[in-house]
Amino acid sequence: MPSVQNPSKIQGISLKSIALQFGTPVYVYDGDKIVSQIQALKDAFSGVPLKIKYATKALSNISILKVVRASGGGVDAVSIEEVRLCLLAGFLPNEIMYTPNCVSFEEVQQAVDFGVMINLDNLSILAQFGQTYGNTVPVCIRINPHIMAGGNAKISVGHIHSKFGISIHQLEELFAVIADYKLLITGLHVHTGSDILDAEVFLKGGNVLFDLAFKFPDLKFLDFGGGFKVGYKPGDVTTDIFEVGSKVTAAFQEFCRQYGRELELWLEPGKFLVSESGYLLVKTNVVKQTPQLTFVGVDSGLNHLIRPMLYDAYHEVYNLSNPEGNPKRYNVVGYICETDTLAADRSLSEISSGDLIVIKNAGAYGFSMASNYNSRLRPAEVLVWKKEAKLIRKREEFDDLVKNQVVLDL
Ligand code: LLP
Repeated sequence: MPSVQNPSKIQGISLKSIALQFGTPVYVYDGDKIVSQIQALKDAFSGVPLKIKYATKALSNISILKVVRASGGGVDAVSIEEVRLCLLAGFLPNEIMYTPNCVSFEEVQQAVDFGVMINLDNLSILAQFGQTYGNTVPVCIRINPHIMAGGNAKISVGHIHSKFGISIHQLEELFAVIADYKLLITGLHVHTGSDILDAEVFLKGGNVLFDLAFKFPDLKFLDFGGGFKVGYKPGDVTTDIFEVGSKVTAAFQEFCRQYGRELELWLEPGKFLVSESGYLLVKTNVVKQTPQLTFVGVDSGLNHLIRPMLYDAYHEVYNLSNPEGNPKRYNVVGYICETDTLAADRSLSEISSGDLIVIKNAGAYGFSMASNYNSRLRPAEVLVWKKEAKLIRKREEFDDLVKNQVVLDL
């Protein structure tokens, strides 16, 4: 029996048939999983006026954004390009939060022109904002609460050495800028990192906002950011969304009572909404035995999924073509001319060249971090939606590699 954990089908459609129809490598997303994750968050936070602002950066395909929109979510965008993708997906400007870091003031102005909610994390940009708009455009402030959180150093962003947010040690300067330009502050925001397991971290970040909020009379929302940990390894402990929900909800309700009116609670999940929905389907080019190891060389690599090489991230893999074979130990590697390990020292049912390998949990920060390194083409993307496999991005072609190059006549 193929295990449910290693599915051979999504919504009744076999992954093999998707590979056959669309080729490999291909990213496949299960729309139902995204919808059910959104619903789980709504259930966990049912006691407060919740707004989900999906972190677009995790997976920004327009059709995926439409799935989020159809499920009643909004979006968080970190670049003007993400803002534009969200608008193309049909989000109204007021459903889009724009949370840039280290962008030019011109880009902030473009976002204002689009009418989206602006979230600033920099005192000098905030002063420019004040000079330009005074109190005519509401703004949210991203606070750096100096909380160390997150799965590894590269994805921890709320600590004292981080470039993000306005430090809680710079509040005097912050209040001076706000007073100088009579800024209209309608939101406060924290986001401390990704892969955060501990419910207490969200509460700690929230407490920083609660304490500060009394100094801001015009608030409409508090934004607790994203960062819920999903399960990558078998047996991984994941953020208990219901524990976070009940703790944060209770604290938020008490805060609103003291504040004197009800605010909205915003969350910005990326991984939690899309990670488990995604599968990267690849084909075995070669099985290569060396004196030490058996390598499975596939038609993909760090150019398509950089997480294992960049963060030492663990992604489960399985052999779709031969699920019942004898288990053997393998290193699944890509075709990129670097070490390019996708999965090290795994016990997998026996693999032969031509076999299809599935890499799990590839929905978040998979395609969105893909590149053309080694002049390789980026894969196609397929969304399974209402029991149909639909192409949502064409596989790149050689022309895509050369179309922006200006070839000199030397
Ligand atoms: N909000 C803000 C302001 C963020 O910067 C991020 C992620 C999120 C929300 C969503 O965090 P999530 O729920 O997805 O953990 N590429 C890394 C993760 C980088 C996260 C960057 N910021 C990875 O693949 O693990």
